[in-house]
Amino acid sequence: MHQDCERILFSEEQLRSRVKEVAMTVNARYADKNPIFVCILKGSIIFYSDFVRHLDIPVKLDFMAVSSYGDGAVSSGKLRIRKDLDGDISGRDVVIVEDIIDSGFTLANLKALFLERGANSVCIVTLLNKIGRREYDIRPDYNCFDIENEFVVGYGLDYNERYRNLPYIGILKRSVYEQ
Ligand code: PRP
Repeated sequence: MHQDCERILFSEEQLRSRVKEVAMTVNARYADKNPIFVCILKGSIIFYSDFVRHLDIPVKLDFMAVSSYGDGAVSSGKLRIRKDLDGDISGRDVVIVEDIIDSGFTLANLKALFLERGANSVCIVTLLNKIGRREYDIRPDYNCFDIENEFVVGYGLDYNERYRNLPYIGILKRSVYEQ
């Protein structure tokens, strides 16, 4: 796996330090709110599990899996829920934890859905913000790193379901996805 990366974009140490910094800020804001932290599977799992362990306030954890694609490779333009939340979010403060915001389609739809379901507030925390790719009017409330339009893998992010277990975020060699 390692040799498929052109270079490391964010090292384990950079990730550890920045994730902790952002988590501590969110922690302070949500003291006494008993928020629900929602992990958007699968890309967010590693970020999420590191992030929530820095919180020292009472929280509820929940998980959701969505897809913007149908069976083919072309976007269906509609968010498909593959696994819904277990709990009711009405009247609750919800924090969505997402690995990457790209076009903004996923988070724009999720935020609208959670508000429609009666959430008291919806906050977005992202690990990576792909600047310059936004097509929907949505931005993270908290973001760890801005990135350019690079093909990134590791720390939860995949290419064809591979590389999620890399402990750092690397830029995938073009030869891997262009062959
Ligand atoms: C990725 C990522 C976001 C979405 C961002 O998920 O985790 O959910 O794409 O793109 P957008 O801003 O253009 O909507 P993906 O569909 O790759 O699933 P995964 O998390 O299971 O890898």
